[in-house]
Amino acid sequence: MKERGHWGSRLGFVLAAAGSAVGLGNIWKFPYITGVNGGGAFVLVYLICVVVVGLPIMLAEFQIGAISQRNPVGAVRELEGKKWTPWLLFGGMGVLAAFVIMSFYSVVAGWSLAFVANSLSGYDVGSANGLFQTLTHNSGLQIFWHGIFMTMTGVVVAGGVNKGLERANDWLMPGLILLLLGMAVYATTLPGFGKGFAFLFHFDFGQLTPKGILSALGHAFFTLSLGMGAMITYGSYLKQSENNNLFSSALWILFLDTTIALTAGLVIFPIAFTAGFEPGQGPGLIFNTLPQAFAQLPGGMLLSTVFFLLLSFAAFTSALSLVEVAVSFVVDELGVARKTAAFLIAIALFLLGIPVVLSSSFFEAMDVLSANYLLPLGGMLIALYTGWKMDPDKRKQGWDTIPRWVYLTWVWLLRTVAPAMVGLIFLNTIFEWV
Ligand code: PHE
Repeated sequence: MKERGHWGSRLGFVLAAAGSAVGLGNIWKFPYITGVNGGGAFVLVYLICVVVVGLPIMLAEFQIGAISQRNPVGAVRELEGKKWTPWLLFGGMGVLAAFVIMSFYSVVAGWSLAFVANSLSGYDVGSANGLFQTLTHNSGLQIFWHGIFMTMTGVVVAGGVNKGLERANDWLMPGLILLLLGMAVYATTLPGFGKGFAFLFHFDFGQLTPKGILSALGHAFFTLSLGMGAMITYGSYLKQSENNNLFSSALWILFLDTTIALTAGLVIFPIAFTAGFEPGQGPGLIFNTLPQAFAQLPGGMLLSTVFFLLLSFAAFTSALSLVEVAVSFVVDELGVARKTAAFLIAIALFLLGIPVVLSSSFFEAMDVLSANYLLPLGGMLIALYTGWKMDPDKRKQGWDTIPRWVYLTWVWLLRTVAPAMVGLIFLNTIFEWV
């Protein structure tokens, strides 16, 4: 078997995994769901979910990947020492989820590219609202930008772990952080900053419904890229022979993901308020309201370019991990060469995006299928597998430098709290009792 790729450094791994985590979920979804769910109260619940459920499952995924050195399906085969076991379910579902998520992710990322190109070329951002309308009424244009995005993703993934994924993340993640910090500094100078800040951090426990609590938990999964093997795949490119400091790496990824989401809120809300818009209106916030707000501010075109560029960076580094899950499966399990695999999968994903563009109900179905079913179920199985089934010697490998109580707490959370909480969201999506 050919030598598998590996991360060149721990920083490269942390940036790539953070790149996977930080995506449309942080910049598009987090601010608006926080807005409608009671601000600071929701953020608090979300943070608890991240630590109690997200962190243990992220560590479980890293451990499975690092020990097995395989894609999500091959990892279970390797750890269990047999070709077929019921636990293959979570690996298989993960590969399926990669296709499902990518089908609409790439379309939305394509919109973002369209906004960058239009703002850069001096298209009047005053009518950028018009651009969103144009896009949603022009399938050909959406398919064009989706195709461009898919091509870029395919090319980088074809480049391999070290020269493709790692190199792209080494540039794009610091770039994203700088652009976001620049926008955040600018946002503090706006008259609407105080109002935006208050909107994000006001504590209104009355507005926090049981549904909001469940959506905080669901979002913790999506935003941390958990439950579908992306972190298994990235973990599998760690060198098994080294102490990989999985625990501190995971803490860094959690920290970056959360602070970037909060900072995005501190950019978006002040801009919306300053231009006199209400930001509580939901998903249309960044493609519909925000461009109109930019148009009313001095230097709006520049702001719009920077904002959509950073959104595109975020979406791109997440898409790389989604495509990599599918590519690593095809390479490891079917023995196809990486470049061929990347090419074929990019084409398949391009085709899958077309019905998403053409039918908004298909779009929604893909979103719901992945976020509400595949990820939570996958995450629950990963927690149960690592907590109860995985060989304890393999589970403990690499944990000798971490205090024992931390290890024991991790295993306990995987066995009990994490599956129970995930089971709760999962059952709720089926029975809709809240
Ligand atoms: N975490 C990404 C985001 O927040 C989405 C994602 C989910 C990426 C699952 C990979 C795997 O946008």
